[in-house]
Amino acid sequence: MNLKSILYTVFFLSVGIADAGAQEVSLLKSELVGDRIAQFIPKGFDKTRTPSLILAAELKSKGKLPSDWSLIPEFTLKNNKAGAVLHLKGEVSLYGGGEVTGPLLRNGQAIKLWNTDTGAYSVEGGKRLYQTHPWVMGVRPDGSAFGIIFDSTWKAELITNSDKIIYNSEGALFRIYIIDRKSPQEVIKGLSELTGTIKLPPRWALGYHQCRFSYDSEKRVMEIADTFREKKIPCDVIWMDIDYMQGYRVFTFDSIRFRNPKVLNDNLHKKGFRAVYMIDPGVKADKEYSVYKTGTQNDVWVKQNNGEEYHGKVWPGDCAFPDFTNPEARKWWGGLYKDFLSTGIDGVWNDMNEPAVNDNDFPEDKRLGTMPYDTPHKGGGNLPQGSHLLYHNAYGRLMVEASYDGILKSNPTKRPFLLTRSNLLGGQRYAATWTGDNFAGWDHLKLSVPMSLTLGLSGQPFNGPDIGGFLGDTSGDLWANWLGFGALMPFARGHACAGTNNKEPWAYGPEIEKTSRIALERRYRLLPYLYTLFYESSKTGMPVMAPVFFADSKDSRLRAEEQAFLLGESLLVIPAFAKDPILPSGIWEELNLIEGEEQDKYQAKLRIKGGSIIPAGAIIQNAGENSFDPLSLYVCPDQNGNAIGELYVDSGDGFGFQKGDYALVTFTAEKKKDSVLVKATGKLGKRNIDQEITKIKVQLLLDGKTYQGSGTLKDGITIAVN
Ligand code: GLC
Repeated sequence: MNLKSILYTVFFLSVGIADAGAQEVSLLKSELVGDRIAQFIPKGFDKTRTPSLILAAELKSKGKLPSDWSLIPEFTLKNNKAGAVLHLKGEVSLYGGGEVTGPLLRNGQAIKLWNTDTGAYSVEGGKRLYQTHPWVMGVRPDGSAFGIIFDSTWKAELITNSDKIIYNSEGALFRIYIIDRKSPQEVIKGLSELTGTIKLPPRWALGYHQCRFSYDSEKRVMEIADTFREKKIPCDVIWMDIDYMQGYRVFTFDSIRFRNPKVLNDNLHKKGFRAVYMIDPGVKADKEYSVYKTGTQNDVWVKQNNGEEYHGKVWPGDCAFPDFTNPEARKWWGGLYKDFLSTGIDGVWNDMNEPAVNDNDFPEDKRLGTMPYDTPHKGGGNLPQGSHLLYHNAYGRLMVEASYDGILKSNPTKRPFLLTRSNLLGGQRYAATWTGDNFAGWDHLKLSVPMSLTLGLSGQPFNGPDIGGFLGDTSGDLWANWLGFGALMPFARGHACAGTNNKEPWAYGPEIEKTSRIALERRYRLLPYLYTLFYESSKTGMPVMAPVFFADSKDSRLRAEEQAFLLGESLLVIPAFAKDPILPSGIWEELNLIEGEEQDKYQAKLRIKGGSIIPAGAIIQNAGENSFDPLSLYVCPDQNGNAIGELYVDSGDGFGFQKGDYALVTFTAEKKKDSVLVKATGKLGKRNIDQEITKIKVQLLLDGKTYQGSGTLKDGITIAVN
């Protein structure tokens, strides 16, 4: 035996020893529960020990697994802790895991699933973030794909080796779901069949959002809003961070600086803005404070094993925490939104809901940054009583369920908009998300692309980073580079930490202000397309921002591309920072939306896919203005001279669309000898859009040349091309 083989033997022995205590658990049941979706239940599984907080609904058996089904997981128990392994055959590209740092392609990565407040993603080298997504997707060389859900919220780790996917939890046995379909897109659809989709957001939520920790007075908020309008930089939302509160007491307003929230919100509305306010889960333990008082009367607080209220420090000092596992507590919490929202608040931001606890004054080895693991949670309804080790990763998800239900009940005719920092796979049903406290540096700028892509591949399409970087000062150059592509991400919000420089689009001087205006004007021109993508995503779970390999899942060159990205299927975005991005083959014509953007070194390059039609609107200052004056159609025929695209239109808010008040129009283009005919060929929904869309401008992009045409929806538009 040579030295190398001795080393190998030692290595394998040690791996063997590491697994030695693990005992294999046989399968109790495996069956189909959907179209090529299998459920695996191990012997000894008990749903009162591992309830599902991930699935949107209980599943019904659809019969036996087909005989050619090849993906069978193995369950293990080691010291009563459940795990599972899925062995992989051949070459597989792995993705998913939800909110992660590191590369898009997850082969050879390991993450911890334990929701954590991690400023600058610094905890455990970025392996542990704010959210939990026990989900991995694999794409085979032939472009077919599969996905696996470990249906558990227990503290866990997820290891994605090229030859096996390993999930080790610190809790009881759980169920596994595996989807095996012909493409990654079909697998993502399967994921949404199991875990649900986003709800269609109000159209204003797709605009640009401006935030800071904090715009700390009504006066400052209006200054910011007015500056956007004066400078004609499009924006829809101004955010109120914690300083609007009275001493950080949630559901209150500072009696001096935010003396009259109703007037403030009205003034914002008059100028075409919406107002989003922060609500954290920690409630100041103050016997004089109404929220603490009613919470105590309703017995909603998390208690320790000795029966005393659990208290942890957050912004206001000692806080009690609602036990969101308990339906009564969720109902009470939801009820708090009615008066709060009646001041004209449009959206809510749930933060610190890992839940984050500041225990920096504890000795280092006692710091958990959250509740002790053995803290009991009450449960109720479908949820059993269980420890924090079981429910920690679901705390934010249960909080946003309570918030969502309360917001909808308070304003039943409006679509809720809720943003959350912590969440769980499936939690897209209740809230959009952002990627937490990033840092104003190039590495986090670049990282924001694979992070958002991975969330999109993990069921959460409505996400984005703090554009410009939250922690640390931001330079004009970094800001402009970030906004140059961040303005094209599904959730586009600029944010800044207390003590850092001003980070509004005009804060870096006239040149960067101009760049910022162009970047945001591009987003606003694309709103009709973006809104259509969100509509589709709310139906199918498709990511709004998708990895480049979605353009051709058989093209192995594209599997690791994480600088460029797709918006829907038809638009390719190549950020200014991208070096030698690997782009899909076929026709992709350059698309320009705003005068001067080609000369602007900060703007991402846009390419439209051959065969597609992208609907775009006029430059507007907020999403409530008329996009269709005129409607623009960017048409890029495929090699056969054909193109197709869709436009979704509705009132932008409320639920009329569920009763048919919407229009989903299909446009097609067809090249005849010397001309191209563009027309509307189909329409779903009852909305009459003839009055809404009276003028259409067509830009035809063919063989590197641009042709113009215009007309109406009814008549179709013919463009000569010679
Ligand atoms: C947390 C949030 C951040 C927010 C701050 C103050 O750090 O992640 O976005 O600004 O708290 O509320």
